[in-house]
Amino acid sequence: MLIEAKNIHKTYKEADSLLHVLKGIDLQIHAGEVVAIVGPSGAGKSTLLHILGALDVPHRGQVHFNGQDVYALNDQERARIRNSQMGFVFQFYHLLPELTALENVILPAMVKNNSRKTSAIELDGVKLLEQMGLAQRGSHRPSQLSGGEQQRVAIARSLMNRPQVVFCDEPTGNLDSQSGAMVIDVLLNLNKSNGQAVVIVTHDQAIAKRTQRIVYIKDGILLK
Ligand SMILES: Nc1ncnc2c1ncn2[C@@H]1O[C@H](COP(=O)(O)OP(=O)(O)OP(=O)(O)O)[C@@H](O)[C@H]1O
Ligand SMILES: [Mg+2]
Repeated sequence: MLIEAKNIHKTYKEADSLLHVLKGIDLQIHAGEVVAIVGPSGAGKSTLLHILGALDVPHRGQVHFNGQDVYALNDQERARIRNSQMGFVFQFYHLLPELTALENVILPAMVKNNSRKTSAIELDGVKLLEQMGLAQRGSHRPSQLSGGEQQRVAIARSLMNRPQVVFCDEPTGNLDSQSGAMVIDVLLNLNKSNGQAVVIVTHDQAIAKRTQRIVYIKDGILLK
């Protein structure tokens, strides 16, 4: 089992009450699996994705990643797992505007390598950009790229350290349908060729239908 989430609870403090956002989620994700997480706005999809991806701490419950209890680790150890074994793709790309496309792509490898750039890292980044159909865009800044191109740069970045899973939060939410379809094609093809698991939060039923399994969430509970 790649990821095993058990009895996940998450609450947020409001002015004078507690908002119970996740109410005991159990979810397992196998190595190489493609899963969609679907549900209405405010259901807790992003919160769940962040907890699965070691980005946010649950108030109760555990997440095991390759058998390791992620939230029993200290921040540094957790960050290392996140950087080396997980990739993230967000709705608004989250590219660094002052860096070129290639510099954005290789950033996770630089972090892993104590900020030292090597020719092997750069070559990997160039290859990933090529795979994304962006061979000619490596020296462009994010502001010089279309939305779909920026998202493909973000996908290349997410793959830089050859993760076992890529978490995607509404990866096509900011794209027109044609660019969105291309982004989903890229993610599914990468799953086929490299075998990493893909977890996609989406509102879009057409996208969800292209995955192997759909998980529905409503009011912080998974629907069976
Ligand atoms: N940092 C926070 N502080 C307080 N409440 C929060 C915080 N983050 C999320 N929430 C609340 O938790 C609930 C679930 O949020 P979440 O972002 O997980 O929903 P979602 O399913 O991803 O929705 P959407 O489809 O609109 O992105 C919402 O009611 C939201 O307002
Ligand atoms: Mg969300």
